[in-house]
Amino acid sequence: MLIETSPYNDQKPGTSGLRKKVTRFQEPNYLNNFVQSIFDCLPELKGSTLIIGGDGRYYNRDAIQIIISMAAANQVTKLLIGQSGILSTPAASHLIRKHSALGGIILSASHNPGGENGDFGIKFNASNGGPAPESLTDEIFKASQTINTFHIASNSPVDLDVIGNTEIEGMQVAIIDAVVDYADLMETLFDFPKIRNLVAKPDFNLCFDAMSAVTGPYATEILQNRLGVSPESVIRKVPLEDFGGDHPDPNLAHAEELVKRMFSSTAPTFGAASDGDGDRNMILGANCYVTPSDSLAIMAANAHLIPGYKTGISGVARSMPTSQAVDRVAEALGLNAYETPTGWKFFGNLLDDDRITLCGEESFGTGSDHVREKDGLWAVLFWLNILAVKQQSVKSVVSNHWLQFGRNYYTRHDYEAVDIERVDNLFNSLEAKLPELAGTTVARRKISMADNFTYHDPVDGSVSTGQGVRCVFEDGARIIFRRSGTGTSGATLRLYVEHFESDPERFELDTQEVLEDLLDIADNIAQIKTFTGRDVADVVT
Ligand code: G1P
Ligand code: ZN
Repeated sequence: MLIETSPYNDQKPGTSGLRKKVTRFQEPNYLNNFVQSIFDCLPELKGSTLIIGGDGRYYNRDAIQIIISMAAANQVTKLLIGQSGILSTPAASHLIRKHSALGGIILSASHNPGGENGDFGIKFNASNGGPAPESLTDEIFKASQTINTFHIASNSPVDLDVIGNTEIEGMQVAIIDAVVDYADLMETLFDFPKIRNLVAKPDFNLCFDAMSAVTGPYATEILQNRLGVSPESVIRKVPLEDFGGDHPDPNLAHAEELVKRMFSSTAPTFGAASDGDGDRNMILGANCYVTPSDSLAIMAANAHLIPGYKTGISGVARSMPTSQAVDRVAEALGLNAYETPTGWKFFGNLLDDDRITLCGEESFGTGSDHVREKDGLWAVLFWLNILAVKQQSVKSVVSNHWLQFGRNYYTRHDYEAVDIERVDNLFNSLEAKLPELAGTTVARRKISMADNFTYHDPVDGSVSTGQGVRCVFEDGARIIFRRSGTGTSGATLRLYVEHFESDPERFELDTQEVLEDLLDIADNIAQIKTFTGRDVADVVT
């Protein structure tokens, strides 16, 4: 059937796909328009295989039924769909690669809240398993602005819960096990027998928080069934459409129960959490929090201990606002190091070209060339494998790392859902100041460079401008201002602050205290309080 429609003007994908309120997605043909725009931009989808899955949030099942009917009408040959419509984002990336699919449609708003009044999201991943590059998402947006018809079959709904095959208008639909392929992949990368021995030790215990989101079934299979951790060690393991009303974001603010357990006199040896769609991770030890930037650096420094990486890594990459801790490791090991804009899509080319093996972001994302997405449980297993080889606590691994490489004190302050106009004004004023900032001294710190970050992709030559305002100081300290590209209400300002410390006497200080002068300078330069009308940030990580 060909159905007439008219365009919506707000279908521009952000940092990671199109994210809006569920209620927006429920407006007539809102999802259909975006899906048809994907098909219109990629004529090769006709006759191809596609992977479909989501994080299980509210509207996931409805959206999948619409996509099935539209794929059939757009003459896709085969759909592989995770059972119950569920696939973690890294598992979807793996399946695209494993089945040489032309791509995949992932339904997720990641760590954003879910439920009827929560958020929903959709993104297209390409045949390498990674998020579509900016050139394609720009084209999809363009198509969505002029769309006037879409194709849809009039089939009855497919039973998503039963593994098996059906056919719709000549298109095969296979409902597949969402977990097993991913778990098998993990077993090829990590030393499962060694990790099994570690977690069986009477003095070792762990707590993994699945945050009532997609990693529940994956953690059950991998941590419980294959590695033998006790069922009580995995908490909030049943995926819920509204994540139990919580924010499925693995950080110190949102993983409350886990953090309470890990910072206590009876703390488990190891703690971790993952987000709504399973691509983020937070790593904790007993009374110890590992910043994602440090985690990436520690993984890079210890990759040779892990079976999947023991032959060496080709290089590392981090997003621009991520701390420079991993750069120090790269320098010491003689590895290539790349700095990319925020968002996983920018790592794809570097991974495909084998310029890097490991990469990460300060926003609780780490990953490698095993898929083309960041990967939460992979990071957890990487850490468990390090601990199993080193037989040290998380705290000792971190402290020894600082002793060898120095410590990058790092924090991110988020001012969420601020009036868009206020944030526009802040950035306009900041941009106007940029040319004269370099060379000036603020509160005894001299700024050596100030710009709005532009990335030149070394593989395909594409250029991405306006990726965040950065002020770099003479001693390497940095202040970065960025506008979030994933929020769904108002504008979110992110402030990132970093200072390098080489004196071991100063490795155990309070991060916010160490960075206090830089935070003041940030307010001085950007007039954050004045422009946002807020005295303090909403979330500090
Ligand atoms: C945020 C993070 C970014 C991450 C993205 C998707 O994007 O900052 O690192 O890639 O979520 O998980 P932002 O809201 O800052 O645009
Ligand atoms: Zn996510």
